[in-house]
Amino acid sequence: MNNFFIAKEPYTRSVKASPLFNLLKKSLRFFKIGDLKSHIFDPMMDMTTVEQRISYFHLLNRVIDTKVRGEIIEFGTFTGYCALLFQNVIEQSKSGKELHLYDSFETQFMETGNIQDILIANFKKAKLQVPIMHKGYFQDTLPTQLPDEVAFVHMDCGFGGDKFEHRDILLFCLNQVYPKLSKGAICVLMDYMGAEGIEGGYDVNPGAKLAADEFLKDKPETMVALYGNECYHGYFVKQ
Ligand SMILES: C[S@@+](CC[C@H](N)C(=O)[O-])C[C@H]1O[C@@H](n2cnc3c(N)ncnc32)[C@H](O)[C@@H]1O
Repeated sequence: MNNFFIAKEPYTRSVKASPLFNLLKKSLRFFKIGDLKSHIFDPMMDMTTVEQRISYFHLLNRVIDTKVRGEIIEFGTFTGYCALLFQNVIEQSKSGKELHLYDSFETQFMETGNIQDILIANFKKAKLQVPIMHKGYFQDTLPTQLPDEVAFVHMDCGFGGDKFEHRDILLFCLNQVYPKLSKGAICVLMDYMGAEGIEGGYDVNPGAKLAADEFLKDKPETMVALYGNECYHGYFVKQ
């Protein structure tokens, strides 16, 4: 088992560095006066950072290794960057868990066209089993289409818009899934920024923290904020 795939396509956009770039990079390092990044994080193009993908890999393996009951689900899938990682871990671990994806498949970001078709093509290209998809608005699908038991849920439905609208969507999702979470299940909230924040990070969806604070205020669980370089996320473990 390995997690080398987190640094390969489709996560790295293949920009071949020129010899001049490499020479400059080497010189800066040699004289210890700086460095150059060959992959600059672009919030319009990159759905996750490598630091976040490392966390996803370990968090998902944790519920699989500790035999937490239930399936793996994601609210907000787009063309499947995170879902590819989840399916890869499921298949490498031979856990037999199912991946369920929930999305309207209507939102267009940097990729346009039929989003569901692009997602399917991405899975086929990666030679991974295509997950079970629940197309529609969360308000319509979640009340009747959630698995009975959930071991891991990733909530990633931010759109960079109104933070209160985002908070309310997340509160709906949290209320729907919480009773289905098994003991030890992990709930990850994309864009959750802890109280501290980090210089240079993008707080694109502050609704994630608003939702977590409000939802957990009368619950035993607490959020763990994870460093993700330019992006943030956090999780709680179901008691
Ligand atoms: C930031 S993208 C998800 C990115 C994805 N996790 C990835 O790895 O590429 C947010 C997604 O949430 C979906 N979404 C937001 N609100 C929704 C709602 N109320 N019902 C269904 N899908 C929704 C959008 O369609 C969009 O695809």
